Amino acid sequence: MVVSSAFLSSLLLAPCLAIAQSSTTASPASSTTAFASQFTLPASVDEGAPLLPTVNDPTAPDAQVKCPGYSASSVRTSSSGLTARLTLAGTACNVFGTDVQDLDLRVEYQTNSRLHINIRPSHVTAQNESWYLLSTEYVPAPSQESGQTTTSDLTFSWANTPGSGFGFNVTRNSTGEVLFSTSGTKLVFENQFIELVTHQEENYNLYGLGEVIHGLRLGNNLTRTIYAADVGDPIDYNLYGSHPFYLQTRYFEVGDDNSTTLVTEQLDPSNATGNYTSSTHGVYFRNAHGMEVLMRPTNVTWRTLGGSIDLYFFSGPTQPDVTHQYLDVIGMPALQSYWGFGFHQCRWGYQNWSVTEDVVNNYERFGIPLEVIWNDIDYMNQYRDFDNDPIRFNYSAGTAFLQRLHDRGQHYIPIIDSAIYVPSPDNASDAYQTFNDGNETGSFLLNPDGSLYIGAVWPGFTVFPDWLTTAAHAWWKNEMVTWHQKLPFDGAWIDMNEVSSFCVGSCGSGNLSLNPVHPPFALPGEPGNVIYDYPEGFNLTNATEAASASSASQSQAEATVTASSTTASVLTSSSSTSYLRTTPTPSQRNVNHPPYVINNVQGDLAVHAVSPNATHHNGILEYDVHNIWGHQILQATYAALLAAIPGKRPFIIGRSTFPSSGTLAGHWGGDNSAKFYYMYFSIPQALSFSLFGIPMFGVDTCGFNGNSDEELCNRWMQLSALFPFYRNHNTLSANPQEAYVWSSVIDATKAAMNVRFQLLPYLYTLFYNAHTQGDTVMRALAWEFPNDPSLADADRQFVLGPSILVTPVLTQGATTVDGVFPGLVEGTDVYYDWYNQTPVSVPSTKNTTIAAPLGHLPVYIRGGAVLATQQMAMTTRAARNTSWSLIVAPGVDGTASGSLYLDDGESLAPNATKIVTFAAEMGSLNVTVHGNYTGLDLPLANITIMGVPRAPPDNLVRINGQPVANSTYNATSMTLFIGGLEPVLGGKIWSANWSLS
Ligand code: NOJ
Repeated sequence: MVVSSAFLSSLLLAPCLAIAQSSTTASPASSTTAFASQFTLPASVDEGAPLLPTVNDPTAPDAQVKCPGYSASSVRTSSSGLTARLTLAGTACNVFGTDVQDLDLRVEYQTNSRLHINIRPSHVTAQNESWYLLSTEYVPAPSQESGQTTTSDLTFSWANTPGSGFGFNVTRNSTGEVLFSTSGTKLVFENQFIELVTHQEENYNLYGLGEVIHGLRLGNNLTRTIYAADVGDPIDYNLYGSHPFYLQTRYFEVGDDNSTTLVTEQLDPSNATGNYTSSTHGVYFRNAHGMEVLMRPTNVTWRTLGGSIDLYFFSGPTQPDVTHQYLDVIGMPALQSYWGFGFHQCRWGYQNWSVTEDVVNNYERFGIPLEVIWNDIDYMNQYRDFDNDPIRFNYSAGTAFLQRLHDRGQHYIPIIDSAIYVPSPDNASDAYQTFNDGNETGSFLLNPDGSLYIGAVWPGFTVFPDWLTTAAHAWWKNEMVTWHQKLPFDGAWIDMNEVSSFCVGSCGSGNLSLNPVHPPFALPGEPGNVIYDYPEGFNLTNATEAASASSASQSQAEATVTASSTTASVLTSSSSTSYLRTTPTPSQRNVNHPPYVINNVQGDLAVHAVSPNATHHNGILEYDVHNIWGHQILQATYAALLAAIPGKRPFIIGRSTFPSSGTLAGHWGGDNSAKFYYMYFSIPQALSFSLFGIPMFGVDTCGFNGNSDEELCNRWMQLSALFPFYRNHNTLSANPQEAYVWSSVIDATKAAMNVRFQLLPYLYTLFYNAHTQGDTVMRALAWEFPNDPSLADADRQFVLGPSILVTPVLTQGATTVDGVFPGLVEGTDVYYDWYNQTPVSVPSTKNTTIAAPLGHLPVYIRGGAVLATQQMAMTTRAARNTSWSLIVAPGVDGTASGSLYLDDGESLAPNATKIVTFAAEMGSLNVTVHGNYTGLDLPLANITIMGVPRAPPDNLVRINGQPVANSTYNATSMTLFIGGLEPVLGGKIWSANWSLS
């Protein structure tokens, strides 16, 4: 019999709690409310069974050897697809579950570029009664475009092969490439284990499959576990979000006779000297179960713990095509409010309103723009959602503060946690209406026996919304609206939505009188968890402080070892060195300990998460929907914010995401550390989220865990200024790291913000293009330059939209950075230095060393662009009132183009919009205006034209035929600057078409 974790924990908890109660109780960190004699949960409550991931288990059965595969019959082909029955081709192997005897195969040519394959159990039988299919109510699954026939660019073919049974290929007709092939491998379909093995060429280029901290190109020696987890940004493990989508690019060398040969080695800039092309396709496995994608030298294997095989293939053949095709399925990214692109300051540890307001005032004092101030869980009344601390963050002072912010064009975002505190039944003064309201409406997850599932998070024992009920959505909306009436905040930061719980199973059941309990670990700053960590090279830049931090950290480590060995001796009875291995039981699933053990970063699926056997009101187990919990709270929050702030685009930043979350929210990279290498990882993480349709992405700038330092924060404040979501955030009790803390960081921040503010109209237009067409915002070099195989793994530089190349310093102590200017050596592209506007001279090698002293972020404009810019101001509202400038940066052919999207910047459905297009060629610039939004019709201040070989004769610079007097030519930078334009065009730049000659 499988013992449910709830049952296990009720057995274990009582003795554990008794032990902890007699041991020392950690005192809460000074910035948070101190609760009288708080009970600390013992660390053991968050320990799961000892498990060995199957991928690391030499004794694990190999399904490809043991299983019989399937055989296809009753094949019916129609003009729009195919259906067939798949039947187990031999004796059931039951390796990690119970084999399903009969499966239905359905293939649909959904559009010219999209093919859908679904394989699911044919009928409910005793062996598979618990199979679960992801509902389209939660995650979209578009069907066939009407009238679609087999004219698709993709072809599905299949065969029953002796020895392996049914296998299939997906081929792209236009290039003849097999994009996906399971031929000669066995399909395994059990109630808790599905396996699909596909062939791959040598050194394949795969991207995506998140969320993970890894280089952009995933390589061929990686197990990508996909299981939403609350964990501080480990490298190569599963993390907060679940994105079972990959993009694959193949490079081909083109011979003199135009024949093409697949490139199978990783080329670097020095040996990628041939003539190349590439093709790209995408694969989306729509499944919310714990999953694994095994990338190996010649295969990619998909394994999932349940559900169906629900595969979408996108034929590309370019990255932008694949992204458009994928986002057509999962939904286009939300258009963000303009103010969301301002700078955000956050930290865990702003203890009250006045500390929070001091931060705002300090930004003003130092002349650094600040758009949004955030509060972490400090503001809550004992960490309870929708409830402010009555003393430190009371509503009347808060409302007055928010009014001051709003008057200045600033905004306020509070954190909202995913778990809901359960008040102690023994203490009437502990009552919590939010809990009562949700409980009365049946809005919370249950145990299998129908009682409340009670885990633990910051406030103590907590329950978790059941998003599969409509009641939970209505309750959440009501809580948000009611709270917003008390405090008019501007958006929501959704945290802990994996969904995280600090104990295994329903640990609060029967223990509620202990509430509010303290988490089973010390918060940052509490005894045993003081932060002594610093960025790489801190010992070189600040030797004295580094030395004292290192000795303090050593004593803390020694003290921790002593303390834990004492605890260990008390708890030895529950420790074990052997692994728990479960075997399949016919017709039953073991959801808490599935026979196939995924390589979950937390080990046991129930560790630091709601347990898989938590039960939804409709009977569905959390096991089947774990990975979409995070997405569903974003859906609920989107609707709730829309009710609280009608008509305005909801601003949401969420931690756990799923395909389609980008239609609702942005994402931050989670709990990184104040290290240079995490600053590097922010680039591949952002680029992956571009592929996932969540372009509103940024990381905790200057680092979350650990103490930051001046050099790292200087570099990072500059780099993040070119990311869509720009926020500085820090953990509790770490040293302050606001941009004004170090003088060099103040200057560096302003310099980078100056670039960002000028580019805000461009960034906003990129988001409009993302929202309407599915374009990416932050782009990998490989996507913009698809015919250069040396860029396949380039992730230390990026392009913002098509036109802004960013080459940041990512290492400690550097004053130069090596980067490439794609196409410059080959003569297909030109670049202009953002700051001095000079064309970059053609280097002798592709990799170029660029001067980058501290405080300088190398930014280049790629030729071919016309950019409309505004000026830096203390807020985006003020910036939108500044006059316009145009930058014309011609490409190698002398032409340039661009567009600009304008609206009121916040309405969900703006009643007026405007699109301006720019087209420049030698000697002229034409500006064409469509639409009737008038709000930003301000004066044109100046036009800068780059790469102009010689000064134009006097009086020949004209706007709409009228000479404009004030132009200066700089022969060194080859720029023509036309200033003093405010009076031209009647002082309204976008009211009608105009031209410059
Ligand atoms: C975890 C989040 O990732 C982090 O950003 C936040 O500061 C803490 N929770 C405290 O709320």
